[in-house]
Amino acid sequence: MENLRLSPLINESQIQKRILEIAKELDRDFKGEELIVVCVLKGSFMYYADLIRALNLDVKCEFYGLSSYGDSTKSSGQVRMTLDINASIEGKNVLVVEDIVDTGLTMKYLLTNLESRKPKKIKTTALLFKPEAVKEKCHIDYVGFEVGNEFVVGYGLDFQGYYRNLPYIASVQNMN
Ligand code: IMP
Repeated sequence: MENLRLSPLINESQIQKRILEIAKELDRDFKGEELIVVCVLKGSFMYYADLIRALNLDVKCEFYGLSSYGDSTKSSGQVRMTLDINASIEGKNVLVVEDIVDTGLTMKYLLTNLESRKPKKIKTTALLFKPEAVKEKCHIDYVGFEVGNEFVVGYGLDFQGYYRNLPYIASVQNMN
């Protein structure tokens, strides 16, 4: 592993508190309705697992695999689907769960793709949002936290495949 320094940015209790707030908003917005919740792999698996457990709704789980970063800390600019969802979303309420929106390319790709399948309604949530990095305008309905234009890891987010298992979010500085 390279010589990296991690600076804690958002701790576990801050994350859990914010997730409960977002779950409450979703419970209110989708009251009495069924929701297909789409986990965008790999980075959102932790946020997804905590969020769905905090929801008091009839939820169905789907998984969508996308890749745009490879081993780099910069988006390749090309989004590749690695796994498609398994169910029809036509006429259904859908919530897309992302770990982080950086350039917005991934979210734009996702929305274009899922909207073409004619859902009743699509809403989006991202635990983290980097407003300074956005290149493709995309609306995020439920944002966890805004962060600066820096590379972050932990709570599902990786650097070269590492650090996804950290229970908190940290920024990464390269010490080389
Ligand atoms: P975007 O397409 O540039 O918005 O990037 C979206 C994807 O890139 C996210 O779902 C993450 O998987 C990854 N990503 C973007 N920024 C970071 C970061 O700071 N740390 C780890 N992964 C990131």
